[in-house]
Amino acid sequence: MIQLHDLHFAPFISERRIRTRVLALAQTLTAQLADKKPLFMPILNGAFVFAADLMRHFEGACEVRFVRLQSYVGEKSSGEVRFADIGLSKEMIAGRHLVVVEDIVDSGQTLHFFLDYLRQLEPGSLTTVALLRKPSAVKFDISLDFVGFDIADKFVVGYGLDYDGLGRNLRGIFMKND
Ligand code: IMP
Ligand code: MG
Repeated sequence: MIQLHDLHFAPFISERRIRTRVLALAQTLTAQLADKKPLFMPILNGAFVFAADLMRHFEGACEVRFVRLQSYVGEKSSGEVRFADIGLSKEMIAGRHLVVVEDIVDSGQTLHFFLDYLRQLEPGSLTTVALLRKPSAVKFDISLDFVGFDIADKFVVGYGLDYDGLGRNLRGIFMKND
């Protein structure tokens, strides 16, 4: 059991299970995109750990471009997606094979918004991968190509995910105690 701020969290997905799953996802991406020099687009902050592991197991030339989106405040979705300074242009994206990397899809709002935006920039292909998905909470119609783990509709931290700034450095994923 660990404590972050006022909440307690219990071990949920081990470092070892995450590694096995991330390796499998990277192999799938390699099979699909090895010769396409994909541009990985991790959504900050949460996806930075997952994206780093995913990319390092991708076998082929690739590039990375981080983007910052935010819809969460504390442990609740704020209901709006703010995006600060995305700074992407058509010249940068058109024809490129994008791999959008998300830590967790909750309502799906963040990804829905971002994918709409990216499509206008006419990428060559668009692949979406999320480490976690809360199926009961997916309210927005989004196409997710690959998912690491489907989980219950509970608040989780670790492996990049935070609770008000804390917990991102945990190597496993922990679930909030009710
Ligand atoms: P959505 O837009 O509702 O799908 O929310 C997705 C974003 O909210 C993710 O990129 C996370 O940053 C954050 N988020 C959603 N669920 C959790 C959670 O259980 N723990 C920590 N962050 C979360
Ligand atoms: Mg996030």
